[in-house]
Amino acid sequence: MLVNLKTLLEDARINHYAVAGFTTPTIDTCEAVLQAAEDMNAPVVIGQAQLYEEFGPIEKFGPVMAHMAEQAKVPVCLHLDHGTSIDYIMKAIKAGYTSVMADFSHLDFEENARIVKMCVTFCHSVGISVEGLVGKMPNVAMVEQAGGDLDLKEFFTKPEEIGRFIELTGADALTVSFGTVHGMTVAKPVLDFVHLTKLHQAAGCALVMHGSSGVEPSQLQKAITYGLTKVNVYTKVSTSAQDAIRDSIRPERPLYYHEIEQIAKRAMTESAKETIALLSNGYQFSD
Ligand code: 13P
Repeated sequence: MLVNLKTLLEDARINHYAVAGFTTPTIDTCEAVLQAAEDMNAPVVIGQAQLYEEFGPIEKFGPVMAHMAEQAKVPVCLHLDHGTSIDYIMKAIKAGYTSVMADFSHLDFEENARIVKMCVTFCHSVGISVEGLVGKMPNVAMVEQAGGDLDLKEFFTKPEEIGRFIELTGADALTVSFGTVHGMTVAKPVLDFVHLTKLHQAAGCALVMHGSSGVEPSQLQKAITYGLTKVNVYTKVSTSAQDAIRDSIRPERPLYYHEIEQIAKRAMTESAKETIALLSNGYQFSD
């Protein structure tokens, strides 16, 4: 069933678990993740990220993903990840998305808040949830460019800005930066739990962690106890397909494309299930 993010995160808060938020740029990825959520009987967040538009046009795939979410046996939120322009956010809404991340964190605080407020006003009038981002999310390319020595604290969300951002915007959820990095699979990021405590105390809304692929499972589970109710994962699930495909290649026979798709989907389902098992804290959905 298709629900919005606010509904999912409220259930997660009450039942002490975190919803896994998977980026699903393609239909295969979407099918793999929905299978994982149904196998685990857990709610899930799926959806395109603006960055991956060329791999899965939102106007074409959005209505298909919305239909798949409606048919699912567990609650599913179809959420736009890192929408960085109003035009693209509107495309997601028209395509049937029930939630959008309005990411204007590249602008200064006041401008970020002003645009997110505009999105909230419109989205709430049609039952769509909005996630914002205060602070900045670094990515693995930035870490590499800095020779592995990037000071992640420079990107951290400031606790004093959270309350004001929520007051100004009325956003339903807020991504906070406290040590994670988008796309990290090798070096393990160190989460700053002291900082997360301050963020949790200052926040009046659901907190979201991005860049969770490289985070140690024990740290992921610990993070949930600090008020995070959505945890975004993509790299880990997506690259699990690469390993499975490589292991299936045999010199003596060709591998058909439909076989490759199936191998990839199975691997991504297993990987997504591992993540859901860590985050769901034993929670099982019941009607
Ligand atoms: P990873 O690819 O590092 O798991 O991050 C995903 C993410 O945060 C999407 O917004």
